Amino acid sequence: MLRVEHLSHVFRNGSEDTPVLRDINFTIHKGEIVALLGSSGSGKSTLLNLMAGLMKPTEGTILIAGQAIEKMNENKLAEFRRTNIGFIFQAYELISHMTVRENVELPLVFQGVKPNSRKERALSLLEKVGLKDKTEMFPSQLSGGQQQRVSIARSLITMPSIVFADEPTGNLDTKTENEIIDLLVELNQSLQLTFVIVTHEKEVADRTKRIIQLRDGYLIDQSVETGGQVTS
Ligand SMILES: Nc1ncnc2c1ncn2[C@@H]1O[C@H](COP(=O)(O)OP(=O)(O)OP(=O)(O)O)[C@@H](O)[C@H]1O
Ligand SMILES: [Mg+2]
Repeated sequence: MLRVEHLSHVFRNGSEDTPVLRDINFTIHKGEIVALLGSSGSGKSTLLNLMAGLMKPTEGTILIAGQAIEKMNENKLAEFRRTNIGFIFQAYELISHMTVRENVELPLVFQGVKPNSRKERALSLLEKVGLKDKTEMFPSQLSGGQQQRVSIARSLITMPSIVFADEPTGNLDTKTENEIIDLLVELNQSLQLTFVIVTHEKEVADRTKRIIQLRDGYLIDQSVETGGQVTS
C-alpha cells in the first residue's frame, strides 16, 4: 500500500541546512492502522507531509499503490491526492461559513459529483461518525471533538486508499481524545481503511496495532504486525 525507501529530507534556509529525516525505510500494508510516534521536533509532521505529497523529499521515494508520488508533476499529484489520500489536521481546518454537511461534501464538489449523491454520502458518513443530528449546524456550534469528527468524515468521503492524521487529538481533552481514537480504530476495522496517525503520546500510539518511532529524524523502532499479534 505505502512504501518509503531511503527517504531523507533537509530543509534549506539560505545557507543553513537542517537535516530532518535520515534514510527512512518502511512499508505499511492495506488495512493497517499505524502510529508515527516521536517527541517534538523528531520529524513526524515532515514525514507525514512527504507521504501525503504535500512536499517533495530531498532524497528517496514514496510509493503509494505502486506509484512514486515524488515523481509526479503538480497536476498528476493533485489528482492523485484528491482520489487516494485523506488528511486529518490537528486544528480540524473546517470552513466556518459552510454547514457540517457542506464541509464533508466539499472534496466531492472538486470531483464534480452531483449534489444529491454528495449529500447522500455525506449524511451516511456523518451518521457513522456520530453526528447525525448536527448536519445542518456550523462548525462554531460544535465542540472540538465534534469538529474533529466532521473533519474525519470529510477525509473519508472520497474513499481514499490511505488516511493521514497529524496529531488529530492534539487540541482535545483526554476523554474526547479516547473517543476520537476509538472512532479511528473502529473505522479502520469496519472499512479496512489504512490509517497513519502522528502523535507524541505513547498512550495514543499504544491504541494502534503498530508503532513507527522517530528520534531526531531517525527511524528507531517499528513494531511489526503478525496476524493480529504485535511484536517489537
Ligand atoms: N520549513 C522548515 N524550515 C526549516 N526547518 C524546519 C521546517 N519545518 C520543520 N523544520 C524543522 O524540522 C524539524 C522537525 O519538524 P517537524 O515539524 O517534522 O517535527 P514534529 O515531530 O512534527 O514536531 P511536533 O511534535 O512539535 O509537531 C524541527 O527541528 C523543525 O524545526
Ligand atoms: Mg508535528
